[in-house]
Amino acid sequence: MQTRLTINGEAQTREVAPATLLVDLLRDELGLTGTHIGCDTSQCGACNVLIDGKAVKSCTILAVQVDGAAVTTIEGLATKDQDGGDMLHPMQAAFREHHGLQCGFCTPGMVMAGLEIVRRHGPAVSAETIAHDLEGNLCRCTGYMNIVKAIEAGARAMGSAPTGAIGSAPSGAIGETVHA
Ligand code: FES
Ligand code: FES
Repeated sequence: MQTRLTINGEAQTREVAPATLLVDLLRDELGLTGTHIGCDTSQCGACNVLIDGKAVKSCTILAVQVDGAAVTTIEGLATKDQDGGDMLHPMQAAFREHHGLQCGFCTPGMVMAGLEIVRRHGPAVSAETIAHDLEGNLCRCTGYMNIVKAIEAGARAMGSAPTGAIGSAPSGAIGETVHA
């Protein structure tokens, strides 16, 4: 079957088997290995991507189900500065600044979950709400305190930055280089 997607701002048409999971299309066919697979039970959230701006566990959805949608992976968050250098999305920068990771495996999914939390609650979201809404994401290092702090800071930064929007330029994303 054919599926037509916009992935990180780029139109893609792919022939896929009907049972292909979105996460497998992203990782195996498109090489976007920043989206991780951390479980077989839809519990960990390491595979979170944005579909039309909303965070979805990409291991729970078929590639053909998202035909026509815009998908953003961790690779699509960073933008380019005027000199062509990578500029992290404010949420990624907050994870780096607040040490919101230990091994980093869960980080791409946590960043996407953070963006979803901001989408739902706005930039002034409380730490308690962040902790509650992270229920669907597991960090096996159990470093949740700094993750919550990072999302809080990222949310504030998105509220004040002129460009809190999702970018489309590839590369430079947190989590992309660890345990791909
Ligand atoms: S790999 Fe999708 S929730 Fe764990
Ligand atoms: S930082 Fe290691 S699993 Fe989350």
